[in-house]
Amino acid sequence: MTSGEELPEQRPGGLLGKVVIVTGAASGIGREVARVFSRAGAAVAILDINEPALAETAAEQGCRPYCCDVTDAASVTTVFEAVAADMGGLDILVSNAGSAQQGAIGDLPMEDLRRSFELNFFGHQNACQAAVRIFRRQGRGGSILFNISNQSVNPGKDFGPYGIPKAATLALMKQYALDHGREGIRANGINAGRIRTGLMTGQMIVERANARGMTPHEYMAGNLLGVEVTASDIADAFLHLAQMDKVNAAVLTVDGGVIATSLR
Ligand SMILES: NC(=O)c1ccc[n+]([C@@H]2O[C@H](COP(=O)([O-])OP(=O)(O)OC[C@H]3O[C@@H](n4cnc5c(N)ncnc54)[C@H](O)[C@@H]3O)[C@@H](O)[C@H]2O)c1
Repeated sequence: MTSGEELPEQRPGGLLGKVVIVTGAASGIGREVARVFSRAGAAVAILDINEPALAETAAEQGCRPYCCDVTDAASVTTVFEAVAADMGGLDILVSNAGSAQQGAIGDLPMEDLRRSFELNFFGHQNACQAAVRIFRRQGRGGSILFNISNQSVNPGKDFGPYGIPKAATLALMKQYALDHGREGIRANGINAGRIRTGLMTGQMIVERANARGMTPHEYMAGNLLGVEVTASDIADAFLHLAQMDKVNAAVLTVDGGVIATSLR
């Protein structure tokens, strides 16, 4: 190469030709997953219930937007089939959409718990069933990646409506690996810690840090490394899991190291 000649753009390309669906991709971790997977060469379909934010993310990242409520099984099936038709199939599902509800378990309205289960458990089941139907038809396996939470193994006080469906989603991940492994379908998950997103806003971080007599940085970096973990760290971890062909039924904890959340 002569001096002055430009180097070609560096693209890892590990997911070149792969079609990926990311649910809840208009914000936070899902948006970062869409960005990181696109950069790795994948064709990414982003699904979200928030249409304006979805359109903005799609324009920003060159992904295809599909407005979809993951708690509506019929709509999920329709949208997944549309993605497969529009983009030439499906290889990877990142089942990410979720939100955090609070309330003391002995007092909270039953409806709140049911609503959280609809999103934080059944939303994953709806997406996974729609994906498995497509994977099976294609006959070339597939990969399902769950955004769980370290709450699934280390429940927080008054976070039952969030942590309990997350624990069930961890069990769901194992069940998919168990029941569909022989079809070449892998199922894995990530247990993230505190991540600055639409779910954990700057204001919430300040309030929680104050309640513990900490600075926001100390609160967010409250792990063995003493560093804040970001949405892009989680997205990178999903990318690695997507590319590790022999990893199945695994949970990767990405929280800087917290003994109470580490698996045993
Ligand atoms: N932020 C954290 O600290 C943290 C930690 C561990 C796990 N998680 C998990 O990460 C995932 C993403 O959360 P985030 O922190 O990026 O939050 P976020 O609020 O920034 O993003 C969640 C996205 O999901 C979408 N969504 C909500 N309900 C939906 C529905 N019914 N159908 C389709 N889309 C829907 C929202 O519109 C939003 O765009 C969640 O499953 C959450 O439980 C977050």
